[in-house]
Amino acid sequence: MKLHPTRRDNPRVAIIGAGVIGLAIGWRLATRGAQVTIFDRGAAGRGASHAAAGMLAATMEAEPGEEALVALGRASHARWAAFAAELLDATRIDVELRTEGTLIVAVTGDDRAQLMHHLALQQKLNLPVEWLTASEVRRREPHLATTIAGAVLCAQDHQVDNRRLVTALREAVRRNGVTIHEHRAVAEILSSAGAATGVVLEDGQQVTADIVVLAAGAWSRGIGGLPADLRPPVRPVKGQMLALHMDPAAPLINHVICAPGVYLVPRRDGRVLVGATVEERGFDASLTAGAMLTLLESAWRIVPSIEELQILEMWVGHRPGSRDDAPILGAGPIPGLIYATGHHRNGILLTPITADLIAALILDDVADPALAPFGIERFALAHAAE
Ligand code: GLY
Repeated sequence: MKLHPTRRDNPRVAIIGAGVIGLAIGWRLATRGAQVTIFDRGAAGRGASHAAAGMLAATMEAEPGEEALVALGRASHARWAAFAAELLDATRIDVELRTEGTLIVAVTGDDRAQLMHHLALQQKLNLPVEWLTASEVRRREPHLATTIAGAVLCAQDHQVDNRRLVTALREAVRRNGVTIHEHRAVAEILSSAGAATGVVLEDGQQVTADIVVLAAGAWSRGIGGLPADLRPPVRPVKGQMLALHMDPAAPLINHVICAPGVYLVPRRDGRVLVGATVEERGFDASLTAGAMLTLLESAWRIVPSIEELQILEMWVGHRPGSRDDAPILGAGPIPGLIYATGHHRNGILLTPITADLIAALILDDVADPALAPFGIERFALAHAAE
């Protein structure tokens, strides 16, 4: 399908949303000559991109029935090393891709049974996972509690520093002539004769474009100008997190560690992120004592010596969760409008593949088959089948 009846070689592209998805798409497009303008309702990269933990958890997050999403995550993971190297080359900013892997730790016998069940699913999907006994786990991570009952090692579930990623992408787009309009909310998508032709800002200003990319994360559903069934069904999924400080010269942990109700993500600068709640509370941004208590208690059961660490920061973010927890990607029925939203828990992981495939769609008119399961049409089809 042609994206737009008057497709041009150097299209004017308006991107709604300056999170990592919007920025990375903008970068890919601008390096190939597109004229890119990005709008954000707040500061660039300060939504879920800033709040995230940067886990590239293609293996760990595999759930039954999510084979297409697992494949997309694995394909994106395979691009991450080159993506990070390219960003370093383009900006001199290192996003600190770390490859120690992720340990999913069992504490009780029940956890162990559940983990074994999950391990069988992961193995059925041919994912690179292995069971480690308690002593093998503690050999790798000596500060883990003596009570742990073993762990699954997801050796390819790496991590990056998502805040450095935002900084790097901002710099990369800047160097390629992209304009980012911060604190300029898009009210609606402009259309003419059934095709998207630009955006209307909250103050009424109209900006015309050949292509509009909807990458507004948890705010995507609120963008007007679309019929109800073509608004992406994305909702905010609240997450509360905190960061502790450990001695970077003697880190307590080196892997990403997951356990029931909590994950810990060590950074090179000594930060260790402790996350995250999963709450259906709309855009509520309150930090609660109960959430911090639960996260810290769960983390302390895994790594008791965190009790000595200084608390650096506590925050709230809103994951863009779609109705089936998978992203919404590609062209829909409206010519000129591209979706790149709903990345839920996997936005950082899926950034490279989203950027590459959306750029190829816009500039080469090539719809990679990997996009096929993620079109917005799937929700209309699901509705019709009900
Ligand atoms: N990807 C981790 C989270 O959503 O909390």
